[in-house]
Amino acid sequence: MDKREFLKTMTLSGIAMSMAGKRLDAFSSVEEPESPKGGGASRDFWEEMRAAYLVDPSRINLENGYYCFMPQATLEASIQHAREVNLLGSYYMRTRRIEDKVAVRKLLAEFAGCALEEVIVTRNATESLDTVISGLDWKPGDEAVMAAQDYGAMLDMFKQQARRYGIINRVVSLPNHPTSDEEIVSLYEGAITSKTRLLMVSHLVFITGQILPVRKICDMAHARGVPVMVDGAHSFAHIEFSIPDLGCDYFGTSLHKWLGAPLGAGLLYVRKDRVAGLWPQFSDSSYGDEDIRKLNHTGTNPVHTELTIADALSFHRKIGSARKEARLRTLQEYWTKQVRGWKGLTMNTPAESYRACAIANVGVDRLAPADVVKTLLEKHRIWTVAIDAPLANVRGVRVTPNIYTTTTELDALVSALKELA
Ligand SMILES: Cc1ncc(COP(=O)(O)O)c(C=O)c1O
Repeated sequence: MDKREFLKTMTLSGIAMSMAGKRLDAFSSVEEPESPKGGGASRDFWEEMRAAYLVDPSRINLENGYYCFMPQATLEASIQHAREVNLLGSYYMRTRRIEDKVAVRKLLAEFAGCALEEVIVTRNATESLDTVISGLDWKPGDEAVMAAQDYGAMLDMFKQQARRYGIINRVVSLPNHPTSDEEIVSLYEGAITSKTRLLMVSHLVFITGQILPVRKICDMAHARGVPVMVDGAHSFAHIEFSIPDLGCDYFGTSLHKWLGAPLGAGLLYVRKDRVAGLWPQFSDSSYGDEDIRKLNHTGTNPVHTELTIADALSFHRKIGSARKEARLRTLQEYWTKQVRGWKGLTMNTPAESYRACAIANVGVDRLAPADVVKTLLEKHRIWTVAIDAPLANVRGVRVTPNIYTTTTELDALVSALKELA
């Protein structure tokens, strides 16, 4: 497919189809293109990609880590779904809703490389991961392993289980610049005891962008009889992998981050043999203990959001996972290579290409992160986020481009950082 055809498809996909069910059938045949390794596609291609987004000209958005706004075609599709569901009312809910829900799960399962019976759609990574943390049958004295650099909501959920059931949380601290995978694996291994019931690991550390050797951590933990839950909030549709390749037992992610689905979409994967061991947050007697759908009874919810996951997947797959990953890494390295080692700046993200992708974090030594963010915004119109987490050993500014970001925008960041340093 050439770039014009690509854009035409993107624009039409939001407005052409009439009924939600027909649209979802059409998506199931979408194949990923041959994705080049390395640089990934021509400059023209990425210019056209930028044109697929409506970018707010008032500031340079380098904070796509919170979530990434949708390209126009996905936004239009979402509005179209909302119109259809609104038009059909409860008729849609009673006649089409169930099969559309299965269709979306199927598309996601296919993309993630796992079985339909192992995947449900949630509202976000928080719901997915907390469903696991709160669903286990904790006993007093049970232990869980996690890192100080994990996301606060999950750490809080473990703290709540400690208060409620008397579990013990063992928290390791990850180095920003590991010397080897083994260094990280042995940190986690050192926290495991005979009472460990769950190990949580971030696939991509949200404050620094560091990619962790999840497969090696899972293999080590399994050898010690410990199941692993992966927080994939930042890895899914960002770096290329399939969930089973990670070797984990549970995996949760948000789809409004790197997949570009509407706000309020997430995925939970539970390996088949682990489903029976989880208690649902909201009970549902229609499904047996071994059916993952028992974990998915959240009541009536915004179905148009869920339907739009298919459109977001379609957009993603036409770029291709490998090509997207290559582009995102190129953008990150474009700016980090210019400031790494610069006097007065500290990079909190590893230099090795395979240890990071789009996200990176830089500290300005003489300034608090909040002041750097303020100056970047007020003086240079660059939007980032401050990470001031001394307990997690990270003080800096998180910078997250996305595929629509240009090198000209990153040049503005580099010159602002050098001026601040
Ligand atoms: C590592 C990590 N886990 C979980 C979450 C929670 O995501 P959400 O707010 O979409 O549930 C985030 C959000 O940024 C995150 O960075």
